[in-house]
Amino acid sequence: MTQDTSGQPKLRVRNATKAYHTRSGDLIAIDRCSLDIKAGEIVSIVGPSGCGKTTFLWSMSGLHGLTSGEVLLDGKPVTGPSRDIGMVFQEANLLPWRNLDANINFPFEIMGTKPDRAWIDSLLGRVGLDEFGSRFPRELSGGMQQRAALVRALSYKPSVLLMDEPFGALDAFTREEMNRLVEEIWLDTPTTIVLITHSIEEAIFLSDRIVVMSPRPGRVASIHEVPFPRPRSPEIMSTKEVFDLTNVIKLEIVGTQQSRYPARVAEAQPEAQ
Ligand SMILES: Nc1ncnc2c1ncn2[C@@H]1O[C@H](COP(=O)(O)OP(=O)(O)O)[C@@H](O)[C@H]1O
Ligand SMILES: [Mg+2]
Repeated sequence: MTQDTSGQPKLRVRNATKAYHTRSGDLIAIDRCSLDIKAGEIVSIVGPSGCGKTTFLWSMSGLHGLTSGEVLLDGKPVTGPSRDIGMVFQEANLLPWRNLDANINFPFEIMGTKPDRAWIDSLLGRVGLDEFGSRFPRELSGGMQQRAALVRALSYKPSVLLMDEPFGALDAFTREEMNRLVEEIWLDTPTTIVLITHSIEEAIFLSDRIVVMSPRPGRVASIHEVPFPRPRSPEIMSTKEVFDLTNVIKLEIVGTQQSRYPARVAEAQPEAQ
């Protein structure tokens, strides 16, 4: 884990607002979201579906222009895709006609640069895919495909890794295995991670801080510190402290969702006789 010696945040989002222009008018997805992320920190973003989590994350990646506000990486504005930022999505998005090695080489072909094979081989070994370079995506399980996507994202040594519900499609056991893997890689690779998840347990297991967003237009509703020591064992995850924090965050999300539908809830009440 890198230490932030400069005092400046690794990633800084200031007053990020994004409006999508739709046929039925402008839709404000996120509204003046601000967040400072320290180097080497793992921050999770949780919130109700459609609250703007993906929009927030994509704005950090430079893949999405903001309507107003700014994103700074090491103090410099992020205005487009950068090699310093890696991304992992819910789907592994491997090209089906390329084997694993060729999939991992793909970004380098696009960039016209040479991959660091020794680094990639060490990553493949770390995630248990060293024997699978010649396999095609259809020959790999969902968990293996997601591990490959993780290797592809880390292959060009980004200092920031952005993950959008990366393990949401995996079964619970594979997901826990992936969480341990991410923690393991993070413990010896200096990476700053921002993770969107709908699993509060996953957020607690992995994060230093958890950001809760309010429903659309998404705003930063609250930020929770996760004080548990690392590496976080399954035992820690079954303590009362984790249970309590999970509930606080869950109730917060449910609370924001309820406040979104008061009119409909009222409509659904049976008429008084
Ligand atoms: N490209 C787009 N064009 C128009 N509306 C969009 C677009 N992407 C997302 N939205 C809308 O913006 C809101 C936030 O979406 P998103 O960031 O995907 O939320 P989340 O990831 O929290 O589910 C939603 O209402 C969604 O329908
Ligand atoms: Mg999303």
